Amino acid sequence: MVPKHIAIIMDGNGRWAKKRGLPRTAGHIKGAKNIDTIARAIKALGVKYLTIYAFSTENWSRPDDEVKKLMDLFDEYLTKALKNAEKNKMRIRVIGDKSNLEKRLQDRIKEVEEETSKYDETYLQVAFNYGSRDEITRMTKKIASDVKSGNLDVDDINEDTVSSYLDTKDIPDPDLMIRTSGEERISNYLLWQLAYAEFIFTEVPWPEFSPKNLEEAIEEFNNRNRRFGRAE
Ligand code: IPE
Ligand code: IPE
Ligand code: MG
Repeated sequence: MVPKHIAIIMDGNGRWAKKRGLPRTAGHIKGAKNIDTIARAIKALGVKYLTIYAFSTENWSRPDDEVKKLMDLFDEYLTKALKNAEKNKMRIRVIGDKSNLEKRLQDRIKEVEEETSKYDETYLQVAFNYGSRDEITRMTKKIASDVKSGNLDVDDINEDTVSSYLDTKDIPDPDLMIRTSGEERISNYLLWQLAYAEFIFTEVPWPEFSPKNLEEAIEEFNNRNRRFGRAE
């Protein structure tokens, strides 16, 4: 059985580059190229939803030139996605706080989201300027504001209400989370949504993570005993 939704923390671009005596940005370029390869493999395997972590709310603390390169690569990625929208038939959504991104990025995101909104073969979510605590904080403010204005009754708030106020509204929770490059932590990614996901950590750095590695992760996922709180 293939998971319905895979979430990936694309980590290790910097270390991949360093190992080769290249600047960190070379790792980001190679890593960005790998997104299409993995998105195609995901589609071929029949996985409906893919969510990738591309830039966290904490990543602003990196050197200015690296942040700039990550912004430019994101813009390039979206521009290419726009060009290939018809061919890929993939609906693209960006999750995270878009409000403090540069205007050119905000416009590009809007264009891509609108242009691909008609597709429903596969769904790609790109987490950019995303942090789960930030998302939960924004959700809380929106709920509070709707309660205050009388559009929402406190007694009607349940888990589904919370989900519907998050950036991942209408997207099923991930079944599987893969983090590349050896670190075994969640780094502020989808804290609410990953409540019952299986976690797989691999040593392979993101620029080298291949369709074969993906298939292996799915195989391991299938060998896990998913209890969801039940007894054996
Ligand atoms: C992941 O690779 C890409 C981003 C976080 C934007 P890193 O840049 O974190 O690479 P390492 O972890 O330093 O090797
Ligand atoms: C998480 O990776 C964020 C992305 C992959 C975009 P980091 O490399 O920023 O995470 P930490 O700092 O090692 O926890
Ligand atoms: Mg990292």
